[in-house]
Amino acid sequence: MAGKSKASMCVHAGEEKMEFAGAVVPPIFNTSTYVFKNMQELRDYVKGDSPYYLYSRYTNPTVEAAETKLAALEGGEKCLIVSSGQAAAGTAVMGILRDGDHMVATPTLYGGVFSLFKDIINKTGLQVEFADSTSVADVKKAIRPNTKIIYTETPTNPNLTVVDLEGIAKTAREHDAIMIVDNTFATPMNQNPLELGADIVVHSGTKYLGGHSDLVCGAIIGPHKYLRTIYEYRKNMGTNLDPHAAFMLLRGMKTLAIRVERSCENAMKVAEFLEQHPKVRKVRYPGLPSFPYHEMAKKQMRRFGGMVCFEIDGGLDAVGKVIEAMHIFIHATSLGGVESLVSIPVLTSHISYSPEALKRADVNDGMIRLSCGIEDADDLIEDLDNALKMA
Ligand SMILES: Cc1ncc(COP(=O)(O)O)c(C=O)c1O
Repeated sequence: MAGKSKASMCVHAGEEKMEFAGAVVPPIFNTSTYVFKNMQELRDYVKGDSPYYLYSRYTNPTVEAAETKLAALEGGEKCLIVSSGQAAAGTAVMGILRDGDHMVATPTLYGGVFSLFKDIINKTGLQVEFADSTSVADVKKAIRPNTKIIYTETPTNPNLTVVDLEGIAKTAREHDAIMIVDNTFATPMNQNPLELGADIVVHSGTKYLGGHSDLVCGAIIGPHKYLRTIYEYRKNMGTNLDPHAAFMLLRGMKTLAIRVERSCENAMKVAEFLEQHPKVRKVRYPGLPSFPYHEMAKKQMRRFGGMVCFEIDGGLDAVGKVIEAMHIFIHATSLGGVESLVSIPVLTSHISYSPEALKRADVNDGMIRLSCGIEDADDLIEDLDNALKMA
């Protein structure tokens, strides 16, 4: 039994089937292929109703355990783990779109996914259009008769805008479109888009799910009716994850509940500190009552996440000086690990955005993005306080 609460699911879900030689921890099934003991086993496999495996690019038991755990955490029927968050976005979208289909995406997305849609998918005969903003009204305006997918991310990378998931889900239903939500920043601990009407959730598992900045992976969660075709795409494109990395993901997810809780507490304290700092022009954190998206965040999130974004005057020069003076926050891209990281969105996660796209996405060069880890909050605040003297 995995238990009913998410904290118990983090530890137990997906591992019931994994008993092997009495091991408490699921083994790494380090095999590319699988034995059929007789013709009946093969026939059962071909019919599709057997417990057997064929080949690890298709399915692997260690990967499958991670999938079951994450499906339980997101409240989805099925999960497919893939080789990166990029692969999750690409495999989900390409698994659904057919020739001539149109997709609407909100304008503030992780830069790599933005670039995947703009530079790759848009050139295949499929059409991706970016709405003017993350508002439901702008998304509605961008919809055409052939719109098949509405794709969004919330809170957004890097500026933590909170997108109205129920509003967009309603619009998607009215237009017979499939709504895909990147839930990387919120994590399944804080937000479950499927419960709010979304059809499919994607993750960069590289971040909070893995949680230790030591692996790259992604995930797609949703009902069988969509995941069946996405599975075929994963199989044929070969984006399944290696079982070693899946083991790391399983291990990381066991502590997801407590890591996320601590990160959120730290982020709240850091945001409150930054908000009263004279050198800080603006703080973006869904948990701050002054943040314009706070009410929406309260409606659809249980906690407000571990990411904080703030702005200072003086452009990249000032930003660079502050970051170089930080000692506990590590200057590195990515997020969601136990260690706190600091990054400059316009030079890293959003380097693929043109100046116009940055403006539309509300991202600027005075922004500093923090991923609050699980260290002591007072140490994080002291680090920021010292570094801001350089601004
Ligand atoms: C919100 C979000 N989605 C997707 C990705 C892509 O994930 P990956 O780097 O695992 O491919 C990232 C990466 O930073 C991200 O922040």
